[in-house]
Amino acid sequence: MKIAIVGSGYVGLVSGACLADFGHAVRCVDKDANKISALREGRIPIFEPGLDGLVASNMAAGRLSFDTDLSAAVAEAEVVFIAVGTPSRRGDGFADLTYVYAAARDIAHALRGHTVLVTKSTVPVGTGDEVERIVRELRPDADFQVVSNPEFLREGAAIDDFKRPDRIVVGSDDARAREVMNEVYRPLYLNSAPILHTSRRTAELTKYAANAFLATKITFINEMADLCEKVGANVQDVARGMGLDNRIGAKFLHAGPGYGGSCFPKDTLALIKTAQDFGAPSRIVETVAAVNDQRKRSMARRVIEALGGSVRGRTVALLGLTFKPNTDDMRDAPSLAIVTALQDGGANVRAFDPEGMGQAALVLNDVAYASDAYDCAAGADAVVLVTEWNTFRALDLERIGAAMTGRVFLDLRNVYKREIMEAKGFQYHDVGRGGDAPMRARTEAAA
Ligand code: UDX
Repeated sequence: MKIAIVGSGYVGLVSGACLADFGHAVRCVDKDANKISALREGRIPIFEPGLDGLVASNMAAGRLSFDTDLSAAVAEAEVVFIAVGTPSRRGDGFADLTYVYAAARDIAHALRGHTVLVTKSTVPVGTGDEVERIVRELRPDADFQVVSNPEFLREGAAIDDFKRPDRIVVGSDDARAREVMNEVYRPLYLNSAPILHTSRRTAELTKYAANAFLATKITFINEMADLCEKVGANVQDVARGMGLDNRIGAKFLHAGPGYGGSCFPKDTLALIKTAQDFGAPSRIVETVAAVNDQRKRSMARRVIEALGGSVRGRTVALLGLTFKPNTDDMRDAPSLAIVTALQDGGANVRAFDPEGMGQAALVLNDVAYASDAYDCAAGADAVVLVTEWNTFRALDLERIGAAMTGRVFLDLRNVYKREIMEAKGFQYHDVGRGGDAPMRARTEAAA
């Protein structure tokens, strides 16, 4: 099939490269001429494992190309994916649909023959209706349908998620459009990925509901972690015990410093706004967003308390800055709140991240960037493991300890074992693995 992708950012690029790999002829379009010329030379503007190889092999095979000319790409395409950004609008948190509607107008002018327009960007319920209205108004003669086909890609695992999805959601009431979408994803039948056909509005809402639910799961276990610390229980065991129940599932029950990234924070806010606008407010999602924001900020407090109540003039070393491993993405990363609060408290902050320091330098001031974990720990009163990159799972702990001035180690991702850390002389702080000491203290106090 001939496919055009409008918007060659994260979602557009991954989708384009994977669809080309399925055997389709894909043209990725972007307004940014610099980005397109870089892509033509095989330079990928984002860090995503495996993407460079996939782009290169499909370009070499003649199935994938990049262009600034939207009209030509759309005119020859049977399917046009809209994969432009939908950032949070300043002020009310609603998804900013300026780029989606602009793309719809550009596409409308270029349509030739029967074309299926697919919104891949995460868009609020009703956006498909508006895209259809815009195109219909500009081109009453055009033969097209608008379909919602949300993506469920995780950064760092996006290619695998695209090629081996748990499900594909296609929102359209039109039989012809559904047939075209079945054809687009036909190669996935081999992996027996179910295609769920729904109405367009249902598909749009499904994406938000899925992300909000995952954010809720994380926030729930984070609250349980706080409680575990108070009562002397182990949140990893609680999560295991819960997760073995098939109705709950084991995934997304890792306690940590709060969720970040380009999707959960933005999508929960957009869902909250939609729910309010339609008179069915989601108290649960509202609470999740507020609790998570608070949690990210409270992580700095843990560091301050571990250092005896003040960090003024102390040196704190952060291992990991990105919102999760295997990405260079700093959007809404917990590290941002942690660094700012520590600096407000007078700390000197050092940091090392395998991929994120370039992005971090654009949004953080006065951080001393290190060349590796050991360089980062040099002279530090406390080391804080913020992002669980693999390289931080197998640290030479003797070397870390020897480089530090102090011995405080905060493990915000529960990577290490308390016994080992304490045996090595660290004052070790984890998340929600309370041991039984606090409970005993409370019982004794009560007695
Ligand atoms: C997410 C969704 O998973 C994906 O389906 C959607 O389309 C886009 O948003 P992504 O933002 O790439 O993907 O990251 P994800 O792996 O879901 O992690 C999000 C955040 O939650 C990270 O900050 C991560 O550290 C945190 N997290 C995740 C936890 O704290 N605990 C967990 O158990 C899982």
